[in-house]
Amino acid sequence: MAKLFDSFQRGIDYLRISVTDRCNLRCIYCMSSEGVPLIPHGDLLSYEEICAVVRAAGALGIMKVRLTGGEPLVRSELPILIRMLSQIEGIDDISLSTNGTLLKKYALELKQAGLKRVNVSLDTLKAGRFRHITRLGELADVLDGIEAAIGADLCPVKINMVVMRRINDDEVLDFASMTCKEGWHVRFIELMPFTDVTEFVPSSEVRQRIELIRALEPCWPKTGNGPAKYFRLPGATGTIGFISPMTEPFCSSCNRIRLTSCGRLCSCLLSYDGIDLKEPLRSNASIQEIKQLIVEAVASKPEHHHLTDAAVLVKRKMYQIGG
Ligand code: 5AD
Ligand code: SF4
Repeated sequence: MAKLFDSFQRGIDYLRISVTDRCNLRCIYCMSSEGVPLIPHGDLLSYEEICAVVRAAGALGIMKVRLTGGEPLVRSELPILIRMLSQIEGIDDISLSTNGTLLKKYALELKQAGLKRVNVSLDTLKAGRFRHITRLGELADVLDGIEAAIGADLCPVKINMVVMRRINDDEVLDFASMTCKEGWHVRFIELMPFTDVTEFVPSSEVRQRIELIRALEPCWPKTGNGPAKYFRLPGATGTIGFISPMTEPFCSSCNRIRLTSCGRLCSCLLSYDGIDLKEPLRSNASIQEIKQLIVEAVASKPEHHHLTDAAVLVKRKMYQIGG
């Protein structure tokens, strides 16, 4: 049961932590081809500082944390952070969102450090297309990474596909069939207009295309903190989820706050400024003071965002605020 509530009576028990804004890919829906203006290393929260925030958050009733980026695995020695987080009282679920390119190398070490599970971004099963969408990546690395994550029992491994018209929407059925063939847990995500790639496909259409072939059965997996709606193809061991930030915003059940890599606590994906925790942390604020700042951030959580307002969106991208 959540102990922390915002002013709209939503229980807040989930903290997403961006550990870096850097990424070894340049996905067309996330970054420009030149990459991104990078935060100087000294401005990133150290692992000690991140843990100080999580200790305060844990004391307030936050139980779940997810590490995001950029690409979290490009930050050096991430397993050390995971081990530190896993020792914090109150935290019972540590997960990671990754592009999967470095998972083969780290999966086992991450598991041993205390990571429970991973979400992997993967938008195509075609190698040439993968290079186009990510500008830099190799599909085989991600497929190897997924296999390593399953092998290391970082389960359930969820595969996130952003569906884009004329770019990868012809692969929806291929991804759906991976829930039968490989037991994958696939989630189809509606594209949010962060770059000039704006050709989103509504979840309703993705669902219709699958249901033209076979009916989907609703299901309720144990792990999941909210936004996806889950289904299963008859007989499949894997599941199909739909995340619909554009057509079905999930603000009314939002349970999360976000910590950016440079130490700002944001109460909403689209709250641009947030509350600065870095300065207080660096001037030796007490855990009590950090708790107070978290309570303030939660109290400022807006009722909903305006995701469909593209002018608002361009101001902050996923790699900055942490998927
Ligand atoms: N629209 C939807 N999802 C996005 N992500 C990044 N940019 C966008 C966007 N414009 C997702 C990635 C990844 C997660 C970190 O954020 O697919 O799964
Ligand atoms: Fe990197 Fe993820 Fe952005 Fe792709 S979507 S460029 S993998 S941060």
